[in-house]
Amino acid sequence: MALYSEKVMDHFLHPRNVGVIEDADGIGEVGNAKCGDIMKIYLKIDNDIITDVKFETFGCGSAIASSSMATELIKGKPLSEAMELTNKAVAEALDGLPAHKMHCSVLAEEAIQKALEDYQSKQEKK
Ligand code: FES
Repeated sequence: MALYSEKVMDHFLHPRNVGVIEDADGIGEVGNAKCGDIMKIYLKIDNDIITDVKFETFGCGSAIASSSMATELIKGKPLSEAMELTNKAVAEALDGLPAHKMHCSVLAEEAIQKALEDYQSKQEKK
């Protein structure tokens, strides 16, 4: 059996939503101290809907595939749904990740949570 699913390979080789949103409403950056990988998520939010999302990931193939899939899962969705996105859901949407690569999907969950927190704290300041 191949180590990586076709979906993982597809999102790794053709990642969706790569880039930067200059006037993002929320930005979240996380890293994994062990492997040194870094992920940054940018959100554009309008009326509690995620209208756009982009990512920059300096990391392994699974981290890139996880970022790509996670951005696809929250794009166009209400904030409440994005808040509930788990790394398990990201990994499942990718048809699974090898056990020793599950931490890569955790980065995606954490980066999105951080970007949502950043958005909320900016809203409170307004
Ligand atoms: Fe670190 Fe994948 S090996 S995020």
